[in-house]
Amino acid sequence: MLSCLVPRCCSPLLHLWAVLLPIVSLDTPNHHQDHGVKDRPKLLLLSFDGFRWDYIDRVPTPNFRRIMDKGVKVEFVENTYITKTYPNHYSMVTGLYAETHGIVANEMYDPAVNKSFSMETDSMYDSRWWEEAVPLWVTIQRDGGRSGAAMWPGSDVQIHGMFPNRYLQYNASVSFEHRVQQIVEWFSASKEEAVDFGVLYWEEPDESGHNLGPQSPLMDAIIAGIDEKLGFLMSELKKAGLDDKVNLIVTSDHGMAQLSPEKIIELDEYVDRELYTWVDKSPVVGILPKEGKLDEVYASLLDANPNMVAYKKEHIPERLHYQHNTRIMPILLEAKEGWTIMQNRSGSFMLGNHGYDNTLRSMQPVFVARGPAFRQNYVKTSMRSVDLYPLMCHILSIQPLPNNGSLLNVQDLLSSLPAFSTPTPAHPPTPPKANRSWEMSRPLLQEDLHL
Ligand SMILES: *[C@@H]1O[C@H](CO)[C@@H](O)[C@H](O)[C@H]1NC(C)=O
Ligand SMILES: *[C@@H]1O[C@H](CO)[C@@H](O)[C@H](O)[C@H]1NC(C)=O
Ligand SMILES: *[C@@H]1O[C@H](CO)[C@@H](O)[C@H](O)[C@H]1NC(C)=O
Ligand SMILES: *[C@@H]1O[C@H](CO)[C@@H](O)[C@H](O)[C@H]1NC(C)=O
Ligand SMILES: *[C@@H]1O[C@H](CO)[C@@H](O)[C@H](O)[C@H]1NC(C)=O
Ligand SMILES: [Zn+2]
Repeated sequence: MLSCLVPRCCSPLLHLWAVLLPIVSLDTPNHHQDHGVKDRPKLLLLSFDGFRWDYIDRVPTPNFRRIMDKGVKVEFVENTYITKTYPNHYSMVTGLYAETHGIVANEMYDPAVNKSFSMETDSMYDSRWWEEAVPLWVTIQRDGGRSGAAMWPGSDVQIHGMFPNRYLQYNASVSFEHRVQQIVEWFSASKEEAVDFGVLYWEEPDESGHNLGPQSPLMDAIIAGIDEKLGFLMSELKKAGLDDKVNLIVTSDHGMAQLSPEKIIELDEYVDRELYTWVDKSPVVGILPKEGKLDEVYASLLDANPNMVAYKKEHIPERLHYQHNTRIMPILLEAKEGWTIMQNRSGSFMLGNHGYDNTLRSMQPVFVARGPAFRQNYVKTSMRSVDLYPLMCHILSIQPLPNNGSLLNVQDLLSSLPAFSTPTPAHPPTPPKANRSWEMSRPLLQEDLHL
């Protein structure tokens, strides 16, 4: 019996102790303390759109280095499929694959309500698109915390009846520096007003990556410019006395692949465009065949071009987690890395793009972080971007909603191991780190035995 007392191997008993004696959870953040304003840890999540993992090694990036030296870096970050902006930004703040959070593409059609979503139009402000999931800024506010958002995709949309406590209406013309000043002001407010969780978004280097192509030497200056922007943020945090308090995560939604005008697939060669609507565009195309034309369109596209795969929705590989949603179209086309799918050559062509398979190295984002919650000078090999959500919930001391990530996968990034992290069912629980928890739990079991 004693052997069972020490590690947390006997979960039914452990649960009973937890119910009987809340003192067991001393090590864990207290989720329901509501006398006065909670002294919550602070966290700022920053995304530089389209910042590929290897950009930091391409030119001197002293500000990224400073974060890595004082914090952590993850070399391989597997983001979510499709590797587009909206799906991945929503995965980061929900811990869910796109098929579950419902923002399955930048351009969508929902046959259940006969409506379309485009990140380019006001259709994206229709709450319905976002409400298959709950973003972290809503969850922390429901828990009594406060959040602030500077142009993160979806953060100016009302979701489950809420906006972030502080947010900016999306406007691409607002400078990075202005966004930073807003965020820093929100973190610096009085105790009652200060935000605990902030999200900050910047459109570059994605835009230049599309226009120039990632291989262009002109990208060097763009990347150096992003590093300077990061330096600006760090100095503003320091000026406000926040640099030791605010945990900072700097990451991105996806990488960027070099395209070529020699690598174009023209759908008009294979199938009459009257037979379908193309909902989402290159390099992963969502095809909605006209009524009764599914098999005909599919037969025309299957094996049509060696640089393109056509899947019927039900055959999309399981590992992509991109199938179970009405907003995923009946046929999905995926180009090989570097290839562009168009209807014909008169469409618009870009020198860089993303959206391809999320296991391709070129599609993967940068990830560095520092602050009191993080280890110092530590390099981790790999994580999945869905693991970011449980990590952020842990840092912010809030209970994560059901998600596809796992804190166990990323807890080595933390300066102290979560003492009572809730293990996901698929994984064994973490052994207790210190003796304190063991000493506390032992007398409880003796009580237990008398029940
Ligand atoms: C879907 O909406 C469009 C207008 O946006 C309309 O023309 C079409 O008839 C609708 N289809 C159905 C099946 O209701
Ligand atoms: C967007 O921001 C720019 C720069 O601050 C400003 O001049 C412009 O009026 C803003 N547009 C809207 C619609 O608020
Ligand atoms: C491509 O399609 C457009 C729209 O149907 C058409 O106007 C144009 O002539 C086509 N271009 C070529 C090169 O076939
Ligand atoms: C992802 O998480 C959600 C919420 O728990 C769950 O419904 C879904 O089945 C999960 N997806 C996978 C592939 O495990
Ligand atoms: C925990 O306590 C036991 C018994 O008191 C002791 O043998 C062991 O070394 C302690 N372990 C740690 C990590 O302090
Ligand atoms: Zn993007």
